[in-house]
Amino acid sequence: QPGPERSRATDRPLVIAHRGASGYRPEHTLEAYRLAIRMGADYIEPDLVSTKDGQLVARHENEISGTTDVAARPEFAARRATKTIDGVAVTGWFTEDFTLAELKTLRAQERLPQVRVANTAFDGRFEVPTLQEVIDLARAESRNRGRAIGIYPETKHPSYFASIGLPLEEPLVTVLRANRLTHRNDPVIIQSFETANLRKLDKMIDVKLAQLMDASGRPYDFTVAGDPRTYADLASAAGLRWIASYADGVGAHKNLIVPRDAAGKLLAPTTLVRDAHRAGLVVHAWTFRAENQFLPADFRIGADPNARGDVTAEYELFLGLGLDG
Ligand code: G3P
Ligand code: CA
Repeated sequence: QPGPERSRATDRPLVIAHRGASGYRPEHTLEAYRLAIRMGADYIEPDLVSTKDGQLVARHENEISGTTDVAARPEFAARRATKTIDGVAVTGWFTEDFTLAELKTLRAQERLPQVRVANTAFDGRFEVPTLQEVIDLARAESRNRGRAIGIYPETKHPSYFASIGLPLEEPLVTVLRANRLTHRNDPVIIQSFETANLRKLDKMIDVKLAQLMDASGRPYDFTVAGDPRTYADLASAAGLRWIASYADGVGAHKNLIVPRDAAGKLLAPTTLVRDAHRAGLVVHAWTFRAENQFLPADFRIGADPNARGDVTAEYELFLGLGLDG
């Protein structure tokens, strides 16, 4: 089935459920993804990290004390550690120190309990899903609903995982191949902040790829000490042309598309969308929370009457914008 990766001009925007319907269920659980599909999402987004035995699971971070009950599990107390991840010291419990079987004994919990108070009612109920389980869910829901539900996996910290002997690319490609998701028309888009990761994947598999860019001003290849190039450089016309040599789209932070001044006021759009389109790239902007500047007042997500254009902190999504400048 052809994927829904590009909206026609007359269609509503493409909806990619960021970490699932993470405002309504603890993020990166099958229940959050399933609800997102029922709310009308075209794609569900699993962030991927590795277990000790090289299995890919859906967590935003490999440090899991904020998103699971691991800190309350005395049998795992000794696994608390401090590690340097992408130059930052992080203390807690890490997926790469748990086998999949061990990780499956943990239960998800709400990452932002102060903000998403209602989600805490689900704490302790849901598992950490594998990539295979996310694909199985998307396939089952595609059959049930008669429309293709895509997956939009993000490789998290790929150079870090490679440095500890658990590269993400091989198991990702293995799982996709096992599921016959190997063609660029299949409903899969792999995204990463790391250029080297995408360039490696480009040589391994023919699914669509999206280069993530943030607006923090940090160097885009932070794995190379002293490299001063930032994501803003990558978002230049020349940078976008280079991206088009290995990827199909860019996942740009929304501030790279419509910047803000110091007071948060929206400024004139940059030329990123135009330049990306000229380079042959689609643009997927992220992430929309607590803001409605980009959405029409009557915007709805699927049939859910509560999913309104006035996006709140309880609803996260990012849109495939059909902007032309
Ligand atoms: O696709 C963009 C987005 O997923 C990157 O943000 O939430 O993974 O930090 P996040
Ligand atoms: Ca992500």
